[in-house]
Amino acid sequence: MKKVLLIGADGMLGGELRERLEKIYEVTGTTLQTLDICDRDAVLAKAKEVNPEFIINCAAYTNVDGCEVNYELANKVNGLALENIADAAKLVDSTLIHISTDYVFDGKMDVEKAYTEDMEPAPVTAYGKTKLLGEQNAEKAGKYYILRTAWLYGLGGKNFVKTMLKLSETHDTLKVVADQHGSPTCTTTLCEIIEAVMEKEPEYGVYHSTNEGFTTWYDFTCKIMELAGRKTVVEPVTSEEYKEMNPASSDRPKNSKLSKEKLHKVGVYPKAWEKALEEYLKEELK
Ligand SMILES: NC(=O)c1ccc[n+]([C@@H]2O[C@H](COP(=O)([O-])OP(=O)(O)OC[C@H]3O[C@@H](n4cnc5c(N)ncnc54)[C@H](OP(=O)(O)O)[C@@H]3O)[C@@H](O)[C@H]2O)c1
Repeated sequence: MKKVLLIGADGMLGGELRERLEKIYEVTGTTLQTLDICDRDAVLAKAKEVNPEFIINCAAYTNVDGCEVNYELANKVNGLALENIADAAKLVDSTLIHISTDYVFDGKMDVEKAYTEDMEPAPVTAYGKTKLLGEQNAEKAGKYYILRTAWLYGLGGKNFVKTMLKLSETHDTLKVVADQHGSPTCTTTLCEIIEAVMEKEPEYGVYHSTNEGFTTWYDFTCKIMELAGRKTVVEPVTSEEYKEMNPASSDRPKNSKLSKEKLHKVGVYPKAWEKALEEYLKEELK
C-alpha cells in the first residue's frame, strides 16, 4: 500500500480526503495541533518518519478577509511554509500535491474567457498574493502538482452553501453578487480529481481543478434555493453595491473562470457544478 502524508487532515477538504484515501492508501494525517507547517524542523522530521510516496497539503490560512489584516501569519502559512513542505518532499523523494486558488489571478479578464494554467498570475488580494508565493515554493519540490480550485464547499466546513441555507431560514430575500463568474466546486469532486492525479500521475505542473461549467454567485444561490426547495427570493446586486453593504470585505475577482482543458487532456473530467451541488444537498439536508 502506498503511503500518504496528508497535511491539514481536519479541514473542510482534508477531512473528506482523509476518509476517502484511507480506503486505498496508508494515510498519516496531521492537523495544526500535531504539525504546524511553519515549523520547518517538524515538517522535515515528519516526512522522514512517514517516508510517503505522496505529500498532500490541504492546510492553509483560508479566511480571505482575515488575510488582509493578518498578512504576516497568512504569508507564513500560505506562502513561506510551502518551502518547508517542498523541501520535505524532496528529502524523501515524495510527490507533492498542493491546493491553490483562482485568487492568484486578478480576475480582470473578459468574463467570456477562462484562465488557463499558462497565464501569468497577478493576485490583487492578500490571500491571492500569499497563495501565489505558496505555489512558487511548492514548485521547488520538483515532483509536484498544484491544483487550483475555486468557490469550494463541502460537508465538513463552513461554506457559502451552508451560509445561504441558514440565511434562507430567516430571510425572505437575499441580495447576491451577480457579476462575479466562476465554478462552485464541491470537495467531493476535488477529492476525485486528487485521486485521479495520484493514480494517473500525469506530467508535473499546475492543473485547474474545479467542477465543470461556469456561473455567478447569484445564479449559484438561485440553484441552491431551487434544489433545497426554499422560497427565499434571490436578488442580484453588483460587486460595487455589495461592497457598499459590506465595506470590510476584500475585493473579489470578477472573473474566476478556470479552464479545465489541461485536466481533460490527461483524462480527468470533473462533474458539472449543478450535479455536484445536487448530490451535496442530498447529504447536507438529510
Ligand atoms: N474554501 C474555498 O473556497 C477555497 C477556494 C479556493 C482554494 N481553496 C484552497 O483549498 C484548500 C483547502 O481549503 P479548505 O476550505 O478545506 O480549508 P480549511 O477548512 O480552512 O482547512 C485548512 C486547515 O489548515 C489548518 N491550518 C491552518 N494553519 C496551519 C498551520 N500553520 N499548520 C498546519 N495546519 C494549519 C487549519 O487549522 P485550524 O482550522 O485549526 O486553523 C485547517 O484545519 C486550501 O489550500 C485553500 O486555500 C479553498
